[in-house]
Amino acid sequence: MSRTKLLLGNWKMNKGPKEAASFMAQAEEMLALANEKGIEIGVAPTFLCLEEVARLAPGGFLVSSQNVNEHDHGAYTGEVSCPMLKEVGVKAAIIGHSERREYNGETSKACNLKIKALLQAAMTPVYCCGESLKTYEEGETVAFVEKQILEGFEGVSAEDAKKVIVAYEPIWAIGTGKSASTDDAENTIRAIRGVLAGLYGEAADEIRILYGGSVKPGNIKAYLGCPDIDGALVGGASLEPSSFIELIKESV
Ligand code: 13P
Repeated sequence: MSRTKLLLGNWKMNKGPKEAASFMAQAEEMLALANEKGIEIGVAPTFLCLEEVARLAPGGFLVSSQNVNEHDHGAYTGEVSCPMLKEVGVKAAIIGHSERREYNGETSKACNLKIKALLQAAMTPVYCCGESLKTYEEGETVAFVEKQILEGFEGVSAEDAKKVIVAYEPIWAIGTGKSASTDDAENTIRAIRGVLAGLYGEAADEIRILYGGSVKPGNIKAYLGCPDIDGALVGGASLEPSSFIELIKESV
């Protein structure tokens, strides 16, 4: 089963519309490089920049939000829905990033509703999971991540599950410069695929699982060389166009 590798830049709360547009001026060049490598690329800007980024994105350049509300419309102040994102050309949404779990109290059960809403809207959920340093040091990583996966995928059919992208991001590796070893990343991602295989059988082979956490041009090749790692969710190193281009060049 061949799974196309994906390099997705999570801009977090960085870049206003001007900076976002300036990045996108190089999107054609980035996409041409990615096509040469046979990988998929995309970015996840803030809600404020999504419309402009989607307008400037060449076909095949994935534009993702960093969150979504599970309802289509209504009295949910400060929220944005799947149909609204779709209307401006957004095709995916990052769900359950550890920063949203920590600062916005998002639970895996809440993520499950968002995942279902995205699938219903024919959009791609990028579902994040990952353990704290304490959990890692206690050797409880797999059990912790397994629970996140089981709760996130609750009630999702095998056919729909294939459309979900999972991102494994150990919290202790995010923005710290302390990336997980390729062995740790590959082993945990293989265990995640095992959990998905328990739920979905062979369909699990089609689910893409990314690694995230201090991915840089200098280490991306090692991660993407691992058999179970299907790409990278990149924060800091995705912000500068030159660095994003380096990531693409070094990816495979
Ligand atoms: P960094 O690449 O900055 O460590 O961030 C990773 C991340 O959280 C991507 O979602």
